[in-house]
Amino acid sequence: MTPEPLLQIRDLHASFVSYRGLARVLNGVNLTVGRGEKVGLVGETGCGKSLTMRAVLGLLQPPRARVRGEIWFAGRNLLALPSRELEQIRGREIAMIFQDPMAALNPVFTIGDQLLDVIARHPKGRPSATEAWERALAILREVALSDPERVMRAYPVQLSGGMRQRVLIAMALVNEPALVIADEPGTALDVTIQEQILLLMRSLVDAKGLSVLLITHNLGVVRALTDRVYVMYAGSIAETAPTADLFRTPKHPYTQGLLASVPKLSGEGVPRGIEGMIPDYLAPPPGCRFAPRCPFAQPRCQQPPPWVTVDTDHQVACVLYDAAPAPRLP
Ligand SMILES: Nc1ncnc2c1ncn2[C@@H]1O[C@H](COP(=O)(O)OP(=O)(O)OP(=O)(O)O)[C@@H](O)[C@H]1O
Ligand code: SF4
Ligand SMILES: [Mg+2]
Repeated sequence: MTPEPLLQIRDLHASFVSYRGLARVLNGVNLTVGRGEKVGLVGETGCGKSLTMRAVLGLLQPPRARVRGEIWFAGRNLLALPSRELEQIRGREIAMIFQDPMAALNPVFTIGDQLLDVIARHPKGRPSATEAWERALAILREVALSDPERVMRAYPVQLSGGMRQRVLIAMALVNEPALVIADEPGTALDVTIQEQILLLMRSLVDAKGLSVLLITHNLGVVRALTDRVYVMYAGSIAETAPTADLFRTPKHPYTQGLLASVPKLSGEGVPRGIEGMIPDYLAPPPGCRFAPRCPFAQPRCQQPPPWVTVDTDHQVACVLYDAAPAPRLP
């Protein structure tokens, strides 16, 4: 059963004014995260994943950025809210976990200062000093940091990368936000530590029943951690499906290419990449932006592709599914 929507991004466009012209990056993004749902957003570098997240957080501002569309969160359109109200939502109801913990933590304050500052902004009110301290120690224990008193007194530079990432997860989860947006969490760490961090994040969000939007270009991470996936290409959603369905029966030629470019664990075969590059956002192709790289491109792809439901909860933006069953990549 589809959960009640918590975040609904509707026809989101974002462009940037530059000296070379207008870069039209986000081109009508539609994406929904249900309550308690873990949703992945994947796509190759530069496709607009982080921009989508920054739009949700209200971090794309005129005059450089032009944003239109709707971003509904718990019944409010974030794009129409005054900045003070948005500020209230950010960090309280929506929390972020960034890729680079060193950049996200303030080097001149101790972990304790920073964590207590977050706890003081709890949506239900500022707790007493003793209670805040207890909550801080409890969440540090939950993210498996032994000796939390020492961590509270430490400056970011005194902790390892893995510990800093755990602190960031603690800061994101301590006020139990309704939605956690994680942008490439742990990619600054080595692979084993990244895996531990992701498994930890999953067990915590499951235990607390939080919703997650997980942004990554790592398909293995998406497969392990999410219920549903959106595949993004050059500023719009190419396909969405329950995670298992997407990996079993990818429909969009871009998704098929993306999955075919992942090396198999068995070592069988040679991964096929997708030829070509993401288009120039100053002059993107008309219609389907994947057309210059698509082996199935045809004249009608010069028009914006239809959004077709191919199966329960499985939708794809491609003309191939408008009428007949589509072929797979050769
Ligand atoms: N402030 C900006 N001004 C102009 N263009 C921008 C700005 N921010 C992003 N872009 C453009 O938007 C495109 C998408 O950027 P974004 O950071 O969302 O990509 P991404 O999908 O998160 O990629 P990655 O996987 O590398 O993190 C970039 O290629 C860049 O050209
Ligand atoms: S709409 Fe056309 S160009 Fe785009 S993915 Fe489908 S077949 Fe390829
Ligand atoms: Mg990014």
